[in-house]
Amino acid sequence: MPDLLSLFPPGSELAEDGGLVVGGCRADELAAEFGTPVLVVAEAALRARAREYVDELTARWANSRVVFASKAFPCTAVQRLVVEEGLGLDVAGGGEIVTALKAGVDPAKVVLHGNAKSDEEVGLAVEHGIGLVAVDNADDVDRLEAAVPAGRRQPVLVRVIPGVTADTHSHVLTGHEGSKFGLAPAAAAELITRIEASPRLDMRGLHVHVGSQILDVEPFAEAVAAVAALGEFPTYDLGGGLGARYTWADQAPPVPDYLDALIGAARAHLPAAAELIIEPGRSMVAAAATTVYRVTTVKRGAHTFVAVDGGMGDNLEVALYGQRFEAGIVGRFDEPDQERVIVVGRHCESGDVLVDGVPLARPTVGDLLAVPATGAYCYTMGNNYNGNRRIPVVFARDGNARLVVRRETYADLMSRDVP
Ligand SMILES: Cc1ncc(COP(=O)(O)O)c(C=O)c1O
Repeated sequence: MPDLLSLFPPGSELAEDGGLVVGGCRADELAAEFGTPVLVVAEAALRARAREYVDELTARWANSRVVFASKAFPCTAVQRLVVEEGLGLDVAGGGEIVTALKAGVDPAKVVLHGNAKSDEEVGLAVEHGIGLVAVDNADDVDRLEAAVPAGRRQPVLVRVIPGVTADTHSHVLTGHEGSKFGLAPAAAAELITRIEASPRLDMRGLHVHVGSQILDVEPFAEAVAAVAALGEFPTYDLGGGLGARYTWADQAPPVPDYLDALIGAARAHLPAAAELIIEPGRSMVAAAATTVYRVTTVKRGAHTFVAVDGGMGDNLEVALYGQRFEAGIVGRFDEPDQERVIVVGRHCESGDVLVDGVPLARPTVGDLLAVPATGAYCYTMGNNYNGNRRIPVVFARDGNARLVVRRETYADLMSRDVP
């Protein structure tokens, strides 16, 4: 049987009785204390990953920085953790600006993205001194010119479509020709000329982002070559996009391999004095967390459906991108007697499938089921479908568990009602 444990956060282990231990905490004890479903983050693993990114990047290109793509796990505690490890934050919109500031980030280390920034969001960015605004279109320039007070200049990057089509789900592809994000090179060049003439804007450089869950390093290098053709600038933000390992079959490139390719291309195509920025999201957080569910129903027939107390309310990755996950019954990962099942959620959609076909050991009502690699975009897309109360986030470290986001209450579900 494949090694399921290897998909759980680094440092996870099986206790003598077979129980799953994440961040030194037993999954069954976490479930008892915080209820299920619960999203458990292995804090030390996440910190180590953040440090790995910073160390490996600066070892290859001294004038560089890592900004965490907040959208991958936009809770204040995660943003604070990466800030403590010396990273900046990439934010996509007003809400992420607000949580980033609450997390204590230096606004100068924040990069604002978005293909449809509102007046309010641009205003917030300018008001708080956000370090870089990635201009996606000419309307961004209009808004910035209106928001920046006389005598100040807002540093900006221009987002360029590199025309690179990576091998990933079309919904998370962003650097291909015809993308809704950024500008094709000719249009980008025109906007750069306008920005360079603007008294309110400081044209700092270019931004490129190929897409997400990319398991091959070549597209990242191709994108660098594509933006280099637009000329020399002080800063190049090369985006995020490195894939994470979700399944036994996935071969996710290690960070050093990814950076060898990316920085190799930078050495070949970009000015040696330039500042380089990268924006990892998924590959920073995916492997650091696991979701623990309770099995509520086992239905045997043509298929065996194992239903749990969560689903697309806490993990939309499956329905949205067809992302494959694995799963195991807590306490019985290593049992030889496995039955192939479909793990489904509690929501009123046939598409609410967590894992379509996975071996589980004697699944029984009341068991705990753990799904690894749920650190990226699961918290992000948590929702209230079917009155779902969004699930708590717990940091586990050295055997201590700390609640960083509480479970929503039924009262929360009505908290926005206007009487
Ligand atoms: C501009 C930008 N930067 C970085 C990221 C992070 O990508 P990933 O989570 O795949 O690393 C995204 C997400 O798609 C993005 O849109």
